[in-house]
Amino acid sequence: MSEVGNETRFLHAVEIGLGAWQWGDRIIWGYQPGKSERGIREGFDVSLSMGARFVDTAEIYGSGRSERMLGQFLKETEQPVLVATKFFPWPWRFNKDFVPRALKGSLERLQLDAVDLYQVHWPSPLLSPETLAEGLALCVQEGLARTVGVSNFWHWDMLRAYSALMQQGIPLASNQLPFSLLKRDAERDGTLARCKELGIRFIAYSPLAQGLLTGKYSADNPPPGARGANYAETLKKLSPVIKALQETAQNHGKTVAQTALNWVICKGALPIPGAKNAKQAQDNAGGAGWRLSDDEIALLDEATESF
Ligand SMILES: NC(=O)c1ccc[n+]([C@@H]2O[C@H](COP(=O)([O-])OP(=O)(O)OC[C@H]3O[C@@H](n4cnc5c(N)ncnc54)[C@H](OP(=O)(O)O)[C@@H]3O)[C@@H](O)[C@H]2O)c1
Repeated sequence: MSEVGNETRFLHAVEIGLGAWQWGDRIIWGYQPGKSERGIREGFDVSLSMGARFVDTAEIYGSGRSERMLGQFLKETEQPVLVATKFFPWPWRFNKDFVPRALKGSLERLQLDAVDLYQVHWPSPLLSPETLAEGLALCVQEGLARTVGVSNFWHWDMLRAYSALMQQGIPLASNQLPFSLLKRDAERDGTLARCKELGIRFIAYSPLAQGLLTGKYSADNPPPGARGANYAETLKKLSPVIKALQETAQNHGKTVAQTALNWVICKGALPIPGAKNAKQAQDNAGGAGWRLSDDEIALLDEATESF
């Protein structure tokens, strides 16, 4: 492996991170300027103090607001933070040069010279995985990104990006996909296993199924806004899953959310739960640093077989 290859090792040592989609997003997460900042800032501080130092943002989160907030927080903390952000393949970004160009915009908002991980947010109908990988390679070669990854790339797209990067001596550091007890496609279709085989860190987004796996929502008490409609069918089947999580959580003196996150960790993935305040961030950081038993994992697997 090249020197750059060694650089990807840090990601495998990260057990849990913090998602920053909530920072500035009004549509799904109800962010309110002047009202939401304090909780977000306290959540960031608590996460760092509990050892969750990997923060995942994207240029599109809050139309750049999330990156700007993170940039400000980074300036105000002495603690080391690993920063990951993402390139969005808008249709007008029609060649590989747009990738480093977009990253320069992110770096300006983040007030950084380089990020630890730069990811392509989604595959593009216009740019092939190979072209996107060439764009990512430019980011490493120009010293703008320490490592590079993809997101929402299922098996074959991921392999194409992996091979294209390898031709330039750059490893694909990560693939970020939806993964939780309620969304197990990556486990079933072999993407998770293939990531492990190739040394690609599997980053699990929406690891709490956007709040459903915390135990606070049910069919009678759905989450607010679009989430309520999106998860209407899932909510109908949720109660036995929460029951299994509560029973398992009790064995360890943990919460439902911590147990759901630990299941993700036990599967070999890196969860990046989003948090709106210190209480949620503290709860989530406690999802790491311990392990469910094989029997408990099997019980939770069984309880979510139909998801
Ligand atoms: N690459 C991609 O395409 C992609 C897509 C989605 C997400 N992501 C990344 O993954 C991160 C996490 O995913 P996500 O934000 O979709 O979903 P998530 O982490 O599964 O859920 C986050 C939401 O659940 C609730 N919550 C979190 N912790 C809680 C706790 N301990 N107790 C009670 N409620 C809690 C909060 O919402 P309420 O309080 O409103 O319920 C919070 O906003 C994002 O921030 C983002 O960085 C990436």
